[in-house]
Amino acid sequence: MSGERRGKALLAPADLLEFKAHTRRKLNVHEKYLRQCIKFANFCYVDTHGGTGLIKINEQVIEGSAVKAAEISPSTPIYVIEVDPHKVQRLRLVAKEKNLSLLNIIEGDCNIEVPILLKEEIEPGQRFILFFVDPDSYIYRESSQRILEFTPILFDTITMFPRSEILFTLILQGTRVGSYGFKRPFDPKAPAMREALEATLGTGIIQWLETNQLHRLHHLLLEWFLTKYIKTQPKHRYKYAGALLINSSRGVPQYYLVFGTNNQTGAEIMRNVMKTEWKNQSGQTEVITPPLDLFVFDDRLMKPRLLDILKINRIVQ
Ligand SMILES: C[S@@+](CC[C@H](N)C(=O)[O-])C[C@H]1O[C@@H](n2cnc3c(N)ncnc32)[C@H](O)[C@@H]1O
Repeated sequence: MSGERRGKALLAPADLLEFKAHTRRKLNVHEKYLRQCIKFANFCYVDTHGGTGLIKINEQVIEGSAVKAAEISPSTPIYVIEVDPHKVQRLRLVAKEKNLSLLNIIEGDCNIEVPILLKEEIEPGQRFILFFVDPDSYIYRESSQRILEFTPILFDTITMFPRSEILFTLILQGTRVGSYGFKRPFDPKAPAMREALEATLGTGIIQWLETNQLHRLHHLLLEWFLTKYIKTQPKHRYKYAGALLINSSRGVPQYYLVFGTNNQTGAEIMRNVMKTEWKNQSGQTEVITPPLDLFVFDDRLMKPRLLDILKINRIVQ
């Protein structure tokens, strides 16, 4: 990209990341939870997939996750990582314009930058840290570049860090090619998808999907993620876990927002937040409050096989 083009890109609103209306649900959950967290003085926030700072939803420009976090909690240390240099420039511009001096913007791959950040900046156990891991795909491609959006090592680094919490977007709907690219159907049998799933969610996932029924793909992905990274035995990484299914406005499942924590108060807050969003999305007025050790909001779990499996594996009581 030439310098002239780059200069224009910095100022053109068209260069803001654009999202569909359902993104508001994700940002609602994120914001409502954060507003509770900032009441604690020893709180810290890490946004592993920063984006452009401001985003567009239906032509409306609103704050993205990192800028929102910095705005509502001006005294909290906030770290935001973004791999795309142009988006980083955008983020820096927004941070400057809004005078967000505690927003630490790091350019790079979060799989590399998170371990460095935790080693160099954050003393283990001193703060509780919310990690928002919000990729837009499994593999990030920009011209000849091919970068894994997240890796099993990233999850290990985050979930094993003392007093960490995670909010992760587990994508269900397809794979995006290029930062503004197209989506393909989500077919784990397709070689590129197999490769992406193995590299990002861990080896063994394809056999796991194949030995189970592929038509339950979404639930299998959630089970895999919960059992492998959130409620891993023999020692639980997180005592409390939750997930909220986010649908498109036409009712098509897009992703799960998956949450893990060891903090009971945090789990109670997140369960309430997710329950409210679920009520709004599903239109149901009465929603049973699920147990704190695993609260999943997805009405396709009529036969609670997910819970059965987790119980059999003694992951929940
Ligand atoms: C869904 S967007 C994040 C949106 C953001 N949460 C917000 O609310 O504005 C995902 C971002 O992750 C970035 N990304 C992809 N792979 C990455 C990686 N390995 N490390 C850091 N950022 C990455 C993409 O460039 C993109 O900007």
